[in-house]
Amino acid sequence: MTQPFLSIRNLRKAFGAITAVHDVTLDIPKGEFLTFLGPSGSGKSTTLYAIAGFQDPSSGDVELEGRSLLAVPSHRRNIGMVFQRYTLFPHLTVAENVAFPLRVRRRPEAEVKKKVADMLALVRLESFAQRLPGALSGGQQQRVALARALAYDPPILLMDEPLSALDKKLREEIQGEIRRIHRETGVTILYVTHDQEEALHLSDRIALFRDGRIEQTGSGEDLYLRPATDFVAGFIGNSNFLAAEHLDTKDGTATIRLADGSVVSGVRANGTFGKGQKTRLMIRPEAFGMVRRPASAELNVEIVDVAFYGERRRIVARTAGGEGVDIRPTSAAMQLQDLTPCSRQVFFDPTAAFLFPA
Ligand SMILES: Nc1ncnc2c1ncn2[C@@H]1O[C@H](COP(=O)(O)OP(=O)(O)OP(=O)(O)O)[C@@H](O)[C@H]1O
Ligand SMILES: [Mg+2]
Repeated sequence: MTQPFLSIRNLRKAFGAITAVHDVTLDIPKGEFLTFLGPSGSGKSTTLYAIAGFQDPSSGDVELEGRSLLAVPSHRRNIGMVFQRYTLFPHLTVAENVAFPLRVRRRPEAEVKKKVADMLALVRLESFAQRLPGALSGGQQQRVALARALAYDPPILLMDEPLSALDKKLREEIQGEIRRIHRETGVTILYVTHDQEEALHLSDRIALFRDGRIEQTGSGEDLYLRPATDFVAGFIGNSNFLAAEHLDTKDGTATIRLADGSVVSGVRANGTFGKGQKTRLMIRPEAFGMVRRPASAELNVEIVDVAFYGERRRIVARTAGGEGVDIRPTSAAMQLQDLTPCSRQVFFDPTAAFLFPA
């Protein structure tokens, strides 16, 4: 196997009695855009700070191209950082903010000038060079912070919720810029967010954190379509969980009995289950359809409400046992008058349904 670029090995970080990171191991290839996603307090920032060298781990190691970084002080690690709140120097112009890391490194004036111009072009702020940060919008300030972090060509860029203070439109715009800059520079990016849409939009891979551990690492598609645990299924995208009794599993596909007694075959088993074991069946809202197909499984529901959301409809339904079901079929698939509150069957592809332990 080729040596990974950046390696996090059994990282653990405790603050007194609180263990923020229990055991994180991760290999990151050069040029990857990897996102730490997870709920508040799950250890994302703590892991990032250990890589940056702002905090020493309690145990474990961080290696760059096979060499431990632990003995290297933070300012010598050559890692760029962008944080949630723009941390520009308020009394320096945009150009001088971007020049700052180069001046610290005592680069020649001609190089500083050229680099500042290149970086401002990269973030499309050429005409703002002489302004002070206070005269910029939040999004512009965040782009200056990005230009400053990239000015000395760090091989790794760490970003901790850099867009969370911005409104949705600006956030999406800068997400596009960050993707472009990643493509154009090839810099390895470790990005922290608790916004799953942002993670899906930006990343090559996502590491999903839970309670100081990584629950699953994979592409957005892996996590969405092949969640390893019910936590992943519940955190990424929308999901329905129905109580089910496990009857039998063969070759990874299970037969289960739902609360209303109906039997469904061919669902994907995540784990091994005993006969009669209580389980939960996860079905994505968009995996439901209103018409029966050859391999469909069926579910009896009471339709409570129907709303139109453009390309999809959103149906609020309930099973006889009172479990809520969120159904989002494409609008084209049916007529609205077929969906007035009533009892009816809806259909799903069992291979798009996942069985987890209860
Ligand atoms: N300096 C500290 N002293 C004590 N506890 C800390 C310290 N820093 C972090 N923690 C605790 O460690 C846990 C993980 O914190 P961390 O900041 O890594 O979470 P996070 O995943 O980045 O969360 P958020 O999405 O809210 O930023 C939390 O329970 C937090 O309270
Ligand atoms: Mg954090």
